[in-house]
Amino acid sequence: MSPEDPSPAREHPGVQAYARHVNPTLVKLLGVYGYGRAFVRARDVWVWDHTGRRYLDALACFGAANLGHNHPRIIARLKRHLDEEHLNFVHVGPSVHQGALAARLVEDTGPSLDVALFSNSGAEAVEGGLKLARAATGRSGLAYCAGGYHGTTLGTLSILGTARMRRPFEPLLGGCVELPFGDLGALKKALEAKRLAAFIVDPGLCEMGALEPPAGYLAEAQALCTRYGTVLVLDEVQVGLGRTGTLFAYQQEGFVPDVLCLAKSLSGAVAPIACTVTGSALHARAFGSLDRYDAHFSTFGGNAFSCAAAHETLEVLRDEGLPERSRALGAWLLGALRARLDGHPLVRAVRGRGLFLAVELGPTDKGWVSRLAPGVVEGVARTMFGQWAAVRLLERGVLCQPASQHWNVLKVVPPLTLQRAEAETLVDAFAEVLGEYQGVGAVLKDVTGRLGRQFRAGWSF
Ligand SMILES: Cc1ncc(COP(=O)(O)O)c(C=O)c1O
Repeated sequence: MSPEDPSPAREHPGVQAYARHVNPTLVKLLGVYGYGRAFVRARDVWVWDHTGRRYLDALACFGAANLGHNHPRIIARLKRHLDEEHLNFVHVGPSVHQGALAARLVEDTGPSLDVALFSNSGAEAVEGGLKLARAATGRSGLAYCAGGYHGTTLGTLSILGTARMRRPFEPLLGGCVELPFGDLGALKKALEAKRLAAFIVDPGLCEMGALEPPAGYLAEAQALCTRYGTVLVLDEVQVGLGRTGTLFAYQQEGFVPDVLCLAKSLSGAVAPIACTVTGSALHARAFGSLDRYDAHFSTFGGNAFSCAAAHETLEVLRDEGLPERSRALGAWLLGALRARLDGHPLVRAVRGRGLFLAVELGPTDKGWVSRLAPGVVEGVARTMFGQWAAVRLLERGVLCQPASQHWNVLKVVPPLTLQRAEAETLVDAFAEVLGEYQGVGAVLKDVTGRLGRQFRAGWSF
């Protein structure tokens, strides 16, 4: 099937095979609103569907495409790399590719984060941090924040701040304590018992929609952890690598974490690689003995191909000044979205920093529908508004998604290569789509009409 095929996406053989053999429920879920697209090509901030229509990407693969899609320097570097016939894994001796990448990372993280443990996914990077903390402290307790998201392995599910996703897999790891995000008093109380190996925290809760803690929280949390012998593990899997306006978000907070977790954009969105970065003293306490030197290992972790992609990614971020672009364009985008959306009866907040932004939806008016059944309206807003708005924006040519743990918040996290004109297109799309719906009644009318059409079509994708 050619990329310009005009037939419906549900007839695409890849979509049919996915629905049958990969994730039938996702396809059914998308059929509720009639998603109707298969994305087949991507370049920089643009993606194309199977009919050849292009969309502005405001999602960047959930923060994995900070460099945009198929950045020419990453592609050129990887083509060269494949031609050079490297040995992809060297499990019987030192990997020169991992060594070079780790040394390059230290240029960015600074000398106190000078040891890197490589793996393949964000969840593995976090698992590496938790294991390191347990091995170094001899304690088992883990504290995490409500609303935090760190992956879907059994270890990371144990510290996932949303009960819905944890429940089917319980019992998970014991000794895990949930704390309110941003609450230093609660953290201090949890630390005082001296049973916590690690406190895992994000600089901003990505999957709650760019939710940030009070100023000074992270630096004070690190100071408290140090005082009570607990390791602070900072999850920058989604916000790292320029997203919030500096290469790492902690660099805006006046502290250095004990452990830093990176993944997603580290490879320019073309190869899996993740990294748990720490200081050599802590690393030695955890893994510096003969019975533990291989305690965080996986076959493909830090393979030469992924290391080459990551190395080039760090160079591109620096050469193109993408963190600085994120800071400046993000400030403009935040201001422009606020200027167009503030006061809209369905917009509760526009927030974030850098290109780590979010629009929280929900009725703010006291119109007759909200007065009649406030609980129902709030429930509908929380479960349906985000996905409904994402589909409306898709129809308008913008790709975005609600936050996975807060469904009425739309993430606005485009590639950091976004240009000003493209940012203006994004603002126009949000303002025009929301401008058509001036109250809950208008949204409910549209939602019911769509559900009716989809029901008659058998919830067809
Ligand atoms: C903050 C954060 N940590 C960890 C992860 C897990 O990363 P992965 O999906 O690569 O396992 C994610 C993924 O979305 C994330 O956003």
